[in-house]
Amino acid sequence: MKSVFSLRHTGSAQGKILLPGDKSIAHRFLLVSSLSRGTTVIENFPANKDCLATLAALRKLGAGITRLKNNKISAIKVSGKGLNGLNKPRGDVFVGDSGTTLRLLLGVLAGQPFRVKLTAGRSLSRRPMRRVTRPLRMMGAYIKTKIKSKKAKVEEYPPITIKGGDLKGITYRIPVASAQVKSAILLAGLYASGETEITESTKTRDHTERVLRLAGACVRTRKNKVRIRGIRELILPPRLFVPGDISSASFFMVLAAILPDSKIIIKNVSLNPSRLGIVKVLKRMGARILTTNDQPRLPLGTRGGHGLTTNDQRLTTKYEPMGDIIVESSKLRGVVIKKKEIPSLIDELPILMVAASCANKITVFEGVSELRVKETDRIRSMSYNLKQMGVSVRVIRKNGGEDVVVEGAPELKGARIRSFNDHRTAMSMIVAGLAAGGKSVIDDVSCIDKSFPEFLPVLKSIIK
Ligand code: S3P
Repeated sequence: MKSVFSLRHTGSAQGKILLPGDKSIAHRFLLVSSLSRGTTVIENFPANKDCLATLAALRKLGAGITRLKNNKISAIKVSGKGLNGLNKPRGDVFVGDSGTTLRLLLGVLAGQPFRVKLTAGRSLSRRPMRRVTRPLRMMGAYIKTKIKSKKAKVEEYPPITIKGGDLKGITYRIPVASAQVKSAILLAGLYASGETEITESTKTRDHTERVLRLAGACVRTRKNKVRIRGIRELILPPRLFVPGDISSASFFMVLAAILPDSKIIIKNVSLNPSRLGIVKVLKRMGARILTTNDQPRLPLGTRGGHGLTTNDQRLTTKYEPMGDIIVESSKLRGVVIKKKEIPSLIDELPILMVAASCANKITVFEGVSELRVKETDRIRSMSYNLKQMGVSVRVIRKNGGEDVVVEGAPELKGARIRSFNDHRTAMSMIVAGLAAGGKSVIDDVSCIDKSFPEFLPVLKSIIK
C-alpha cells in the first residue's frame, strides 16, 4: 500500500545510533550457514524485506531457520543442511524483489541436482539476468528464462527455471562490475570440478570470499582475480555477528554533513574496505568524518550495547571489519568520482548526489550506467527529484557509458518528490528534503522496507 510522507526543513542532527546488520553480509551468512554442517546463530540479522526473502527461499529449500529475540538484537538460528542437503521444493520459489537473493541463489542451485522455478516481484522481473545465467550455463547448469530482444540486444529476465548439473570450473572475465555475479559464480564453484577463476574489471565487495574462507573453502584473491576450488564440506563458527549496514549509515553521514550544528556517531558499522567508497569520497568533499579502528573497547568478557562480548567482537572483526563512524557538519566541495571507485559506493550514489547538490561547485560521477538497472533507473529518479528541488543535473554519454554531473545549488527548495518505488531514492530524497527550505512531500515511502524498515524511527531520534 502507498504511503505518502511530508517533511519540513530541520535544524540539525545529533546523537548516537546503532543500525541493523548489513544487508549484503546477512544474505551471505544466511546462504553459507544453510550450506554448512552444524548450527549457526546469526546476530544482528536485519529484518528487511530482501533478507527475509532469502530466509523464506532457503526455508522452502529445506534449511532449518528460526528467528530468535536475544538481548534486543534480532538473531536467527540456522541448522545447516550441508552442501548437498537442500531439497527440491514443492512449487515455485518466490524471491520477492531481491536481486541479491535471486542471483546468489542461482549460484547455489546450479550445484543442486533438482529443477526449481524462481519467480520474482514486479521490479526484479524487469532486471537483467544474462550476466549471471551465462557463466552458470558455461559451468554446466541448465537454465531457462524469459528472453526479450531490443535493438538487436538479447536480455534474460525472471522467472528462471534452473536444474543443476555436474559443474566444471571455468575461467571467466565478468563484463560488468558486479558482486552479485561474482558471488553466484563463486557459490557454483563450490560444486564444480577443478578450479574456477574469475576476473573482475573493477574489484567489488568481497563478503562472499570472506564468509566462504571462514567456512573453510579454498578461495584465493590476487589483484582482480578470485579463484575457488570445489569442496565437500563447509563449517562456520557457531555464532556470527552482522556489522551495521554502511549503506544505511550513508544517509545519516550525509545528513550530519549538510546540516548545521550536527554530530552523529554510528556504532558498530561495517568498515569492510570494499565498501568504504562513501567515506573516502565524503572526506575528499571536505566532510569532517572519522572512522574508529575496529578493536573492541570494552573490558574482556563484558557485554556491549549490542549484547556482543569482547570475544565475539574480536572474532567478528576478524572476518568482517567493524567500527564506529563519526560525522560533523561540514562545508562540502564538488569532486570527481572515478569509474573505478563506483563499485565501492554503488548503492551510495543517490545519497552522494544529494551531498553533491549541497556542495560548492560541480561533482562528476563517472561511468555510472549500472544505476539504470537497479530497483529503478536511479539516474532518472535522482535527476527528476533533484531538478524539482532546483539542482542542475546533467547526463553525459561518454565511451559507451554515462557520467552524471551535479552542480551544487545555493539552496535546495522543498518539492513534490517521487520515490519511483526505490528505497534508496526515497531515503536520499528524505535527507534532501530535511536540508531543503520549506515543505516536501514524497509520494510513497513504503519501498524503504526493502532494506531499512527502521529508517524513519532512527531518523526521528536524531533530528533536533
Ligand atoms: C550487492 C551488490 C550490488 C549492489 C546490491 C547488493 C550484493 O549489486 O548494488 O545492492 O550484495 O552483492 P551488483 O552486483 O548488481 O552491482
